Amino acid sequence: MRCRVCRKPAVIDVRRHNAGFCPDCFFDHCRHQVERAIADHAMIATGERVLVAVSGGKDSLALWDLLLELGHRADGLYIGLGIEGYSEPSGEYARSFAARRGVHLVEVDLPSDYGFDVRSGAAASRRAPCSACGLSKRHIFDRATLEGGYDVVATGHNLDDEAAVLLGNVLRWDLAYLARQRPVLPGGEGFPRKVKPLVRLGERETAAYCVLRGIDYQVEECPMAVGNKHLGYKDALNAIEERSPGTKATFYVGFLERASELVAHVGEHEREGLHPCPGCGAPTTAPSCAFCRLVARAGDQRRQRIPLDQPVSAS
Ligand code: AMP
Ligand code: FES
Ligand code: ZN
Repeated sequence: MRCRVCRKPAVIDVRRHNAGFCPDCFFDHCRHQVERAIADHAMIATGERVLVAVSGGKDSLALWDLLLELGHRADGLYIGLGIEGYSEPSGEYARSFAARRGVHLVEVDLPSDYGFDVRSGAAASRRAPCSACGLSKRHIFDRATLEGGYDVVATGHNLDDEAAVLLGNVLRWDLAYLARQRPVLPGGEGFPRKVKPLVRLGERETAAYCVLRGIDYQVEECPMAVGNKHLGYKDALNAIEERSPGTKATFYVGFLERASELVAHVGEHEREGLHPCPGCGAPTTAPSCAFCRLVARAGDQRRQRIPLDQPVSAS
């Protein structure tokens, strides 16, 4: 197979585009897809400061690298989730990328900064681990972005992620979630703009990008996510894509172009009752926000496990 652009030997084929690429033309292709997503959806304006949420995996490290290559002012944010055997090496990949590129990595650690990890937070709030984890990450993304004076926070959600989430939302006809499934969510009082510049790249492309650019990344999936519904939706879409390349992109891009506007108003009335959480300032309709309630419950559970007549700080 030859590169579609320059006819040198190709190292990757992108069946969706019915094209093979050599390394240099593949990098151009990835940069072009990200540039196009940013321009089409007005994600990032020239000169804005971007905080890239990096998990240590292929997508977010590829995103950070691509934004830097495109000349954006981008720092990273790594959140330590306290997942045994997984979080520490993930953080190391993020740190070594930052050191190699000479860029700044902001770090927040759930256990040491908030007193709980994903497992204990999930148990205390009676949520599934991925739900407690997602809630914590979203809160910390917002807070770190606002406190650091960044204009926008970017995550590494790719085409496969977004198509799988879309399939889940459609299977349940969850119109409120469909209304919020856009690659740009504008900021407001107490929360920043959020963008997903990788929505035009699949995960095979982000993995190939990292390998060809020499970026080391966490290959393992999160042990808590094994068997969750989202991965099942991805498998289903991969089976369809195998038979009809391009279906995934048509499904997702078609939604953005033809259906997204139709549901955009759903859930608007819920935003009317929002007020700032007294604990953290994030917008909520409840007396305090879901994250502050999670922190409080995890704290209650910790105290119950420590008998009050024993010194806490021994050893
Ligand atoms: P996930 O929810 O694990 O599919 O991750 C989606 C996106 O969230 C990733 O592409 C990252 O941008 C971001 N993310 C996930 N985990 C972390 C983490 N521990 N620290 C910072 N950002 C993260
Ligand atoms: Fe959040 Fe796995 S990364 S539960
Ligand atoms: Zn709060």
